[in-house]
Amino acid sequence: MIVSDHIRQIIPYPPGKPLEELEREYGIRNAIKLASNENPLGTSPKAIEAIKRVLGNLHRYPDGGSFYLKQKLSEKFNVPFKGIVLGNGSNEIIEMVSRAFLQRGDEIVVPEPSFLMYRIIAQVVGAKVVSVPLLDYRLDLEGMASSVTDRTRVVIVNNPNNPTGTVVSKDEWEAFLKKLPGDTIVVVDEAYIEFVRDGSSFGAIDYISLKGPYVVALRTFSKAYGLAGLRIGYGFADPEVADYLDRVRQPFNINMLAQVGALAALDDDEFLEKTRQTIWKGLDYLYEKIDEMGLKYVPSQANFFLIELPVSARSVYQALLRRGVIVRAMDSYGLERFIRVTVGLPEENERFISALREVLQEV
Ligand SMILES: Cc1ncc(COP(=O)(O)O)c(C=O)c1O
Repeated sequence: MIVSDHIRQIIPYPPGKPLEELEREYGIRNAIKLASNENPLGTSPKAIEAIKRVLGNLHRYPDGGSFYLKQKLSEKFNVPFKGIVLGNGSNEIIEMVSRAFLQRGDEIVVPEPSFLMYRIIAQVVGAKVVSVPLLDYRLDLEGMASSVTDRTRVVIVNNPNNPTGTVVSKDEWEAFLKKLPGDTIVVVDEAYIEFVRDGSSFGAIDYISLKGPYVVALRTFSKAYGLAGLRIGYGFADPEVADYLDRVRQPFNINMLAQVGALAALDDDEFLEKTRQTIWKGLDYLYEKIDEMGLKYVPSQANFFLIELPVSARSVYQALLRRGVIVRAMDSYGLERFIRVTVGLPEENERFISALREVLQEV
């Protein structure tokens, strides 16, 4: 078959198996999934109510401009209406950046390890991915700035970074921005920003009006808002950048349920706060127990964290799975001895800890 080399070289994003399949395969019941950084509380009840109200309109196309949702985001975050971009998940906005600003042979600088989709999306358009290793689990912004060449068009900063949960400080970020050429597009992926407790970090929204480097702040409804299944993410950028992103967008990329669900979720401060408290208390509990077990972990500003194991992560992952606890083995990220665990409900966190205790005695 005739296919370009850059497409042939792509390693697809590994899909997780459906929970029901895993249960069947391993002969287990009531499995818990702490693998995809989803919201353990479910979805905002206000979003569910709003979605139910439009179910009778599914024969209609959604509003192709997502007018009400953009209006709400503009008011809530105090950004110009024309600087708002919406995507079928924030993933789609990363793809739009790639299609709008990267050509074959251009370079994109990404941290490593980080979210796998940055690499894949750039490979689709034949761009060269320049990865810069983390330093002590944190983004090496100095290293990233010095990897920029005259072929670099896009730089990705993941704050907090998946899978490490670490953040960049405001000082590091501002020093970094000063080193970048004015025509660079800096995508700051803030998928987990709602969970940040460390006050020294920064929000990319404050920098979107710079006229170079051009900052694109990406956020999502998939995590803190509990709408991962609807696929909706949003971005803030300079209106000129947003206009180019809009040109490569599918006309009805945000479905009707996602538009109304997201709109209602933005008004549900109570759900958001409850989510944050659940994650923060859960993290503190998990840190304490992991400490008691004498294991090391990477303190996190997100709703997941990395645990370092004395044995291979794959074997622990399998043994946990047999006990109905699904986490992520990080070998595909080059971290052979680490698992990434999403914070769950208190009872799920307890179940994970007791399963891990048993497993470590066994392996
Ligand atoms: C860092 C990061 N960015 C983006 C995404 C994608 O989010 P969305 O569901 O909005 O496409 C994820 C999902 O896991 C993520 O971890």
